[in-house]
Amino acid sequence: MNKELRQAIIAGNWKMNKTRPEAKALIEELKPIAANASCGVVICVPYTNLETAVELTKGTNIKVGAENVHFEKSGAFTGEISADMLTEIGVEYVIIGHSERRQYFGETDETVNKRTKAALAAGLKPIVCVGELLWERECDITEEVIARQIKLDLFDVSAEDVKKTVIAYEPVWAIGTGKTATAEQAQEVCAFIRATLAKLYGQDVADAVTIQYGGSMNPKNASELVAQPDVDGGLIGGASLKAADFGVLLDAASNG
Ligand code: 13P
Repeated sequence: MNKELRQAIIAGNWKMNKTRPEAKALIEELKPIAANASCGVVICVPYTNLETAVELTKGTNIKVGAENVHFEKSGAFTGEISADMLTEIGVEYVIIGHSERRQYFGETDETVNKRTKAALAAGLKPIVCVGELLWERECDITEEVIARQIKLDLFDVSAEDVKKTVIAYEPVWAIGTGKTATAEQAQEVCAFIRATLAKLYGQDVADAVTIQYGGSMNPKNASELVAQPDVDGGLIGGASLKAADFGVLLDAASNG
């Protein structure tokens, strides 16, 4: 379809994994594996590994992302990290609104929206996560849930900035559970996200946005998922922690 209008990106979300020596070893293993990928390659790592990751990936095709960012520029926000702090050390991407942040850390669509705007203002590329809970799918309100998240999370973001934003569709019931959405389910919701973006911003903007699938994507199921017309790569948890597995996903997206 219109896949040539946007970049497929495989992004690893390391979550709360890897000490610095472990991170160094994984990145060194990943560099030659990632070198031939024709898709975008991003690793989103814990704050303590960001500087190491930026240093080790200089001159390679691997981009570095953080796993969250605060929306204020500076101030009395103990434990938080600002967008300027990330860009200053060479970070290019940031995951925002991951379901684990929504579930365990009180993240709301309002704070996701504020973080997204702060990230964009600082020149970071946000990877905004949306996705329905299992019972929401069972109640047949997946589309309502996703449309609401897209509208609220991107409220007041300009069309130009939406083009720089990656959307990750991560059905909450598929994260870390080994239950993957079928390729058909992933396509259906990613196409719905694109249609929602088209209504809000126009078809040209919607066609330019990278929409990833995330949730138990692994070397066995990746090819079928990323071959879907509206699935532009993936946001990968568990399988991003092993270089060989991540490499299989990069191959799948490079050929998808
Ligand atoms: P898993 O790939 O481990 O299911 O995690 C997906 C995810 O949450 C990526 O952000």
